[in-house]
Amino acid sequence: MRLFDRIAALIPAPLASRRLPIEASLVSLFSLAWVVEARDPYTGGHLWRVSEYARLVADRLGLAQAEAGRVALGGFLHDLGKIGIPDSVLLKAGQLSDEQYAVIRTHPEVGRRLVARHPLGAIVMDAVHLHHERPDGKGYPLGLSEPGIPLTASIVGVCDAFDAMTSARPYRRPMPIERALEIVREQRGTQFDSRCADALVDLGRSMALLHIAGHSEDGIPLRECHACGPTVVLTKAHRIGEPVFCPACGTGYETRAGSDALIATGKTANASDLIPAPDMDLIDRLIAKLDVSS
Ligand SMILES: [Fe+2]
Repeated sequence: MRLFDRIAALIPAPLASRRLPIEASLVSLFSLAWVVEARDPYTGGHLWRVSEYARLVADRLGLAQAEAGRVALGGFLHDLGKIGIPDSVLLKAGQLSDEQYAVIRTHPEVGRRLVARHPLGAIVMDAVHLHHERPDGKGYPLGLSEPGIPLTASIVGVCDAFDAMTSARPYRRPMPIERALEIVREQRGTQFDSRCADALVDLGRSMALLHIAGHSEDGIPLRECHACGPTVVLTKAHRIGEPVFCPACGTGYETRAGSDALIATGKTANASDLIPAPDMDLIDRLIAKLDVSS
């Protein structure tokens, strides 16, 4: 019996037949991406937001539905290579040294290697490997310039930067959307592809980004930890009154009906309260929205 057949024989029949192979591959890609989200408590919802922004920009640029789906998937996977960055660098608050910055800059190459052999790796390769390239050639890892950067990578690049600016970090509050869009406009053609920057700015003007910024999922705003800022991610499965904890400092809260504010409970998370888990319901909803089979 071949190795593949031996492994397949170990999978219980109901599980083996539950998903089509392409769907199973998508689940494995999304689950991989979640490892990155789990590593950094300050990036709750970052992958979902970049994915949603990227889909809107792709639509705005007139890309076909299947292509926009690929861009959205690339947005979710783009930072996969951060799995390979040590906590001391990835989670450092404040200025990185030159050596530490050099380590951060390896993440697109780490990501490229990780997805290279994945069955659906080719779909997300440009986003994973090239989202930090810049039209002026000052990006990394390859230092490509304007006509040589794939559109998917350019779309994900500007959306990633916009989300970084408008999200909280341990050392700063989120930047207002209008200011972040000004920076995107100022950097069009240098840091950001002009078409993608213009599309994102137009979307911002038409208020199409408001339901994504500061949210971790459709209709679910990030909740504010009193000490750390907007770090608390609720899922659609959350029930009013259930305990939640800030993933950054462990402060315990509960939710109240009719209010986005959290009420401190005086409890502190124990180790099991902070176990990160992929939101499989969200992954299923994201896969249902994709059309990457064509
Ligand atoms: Fe990145």
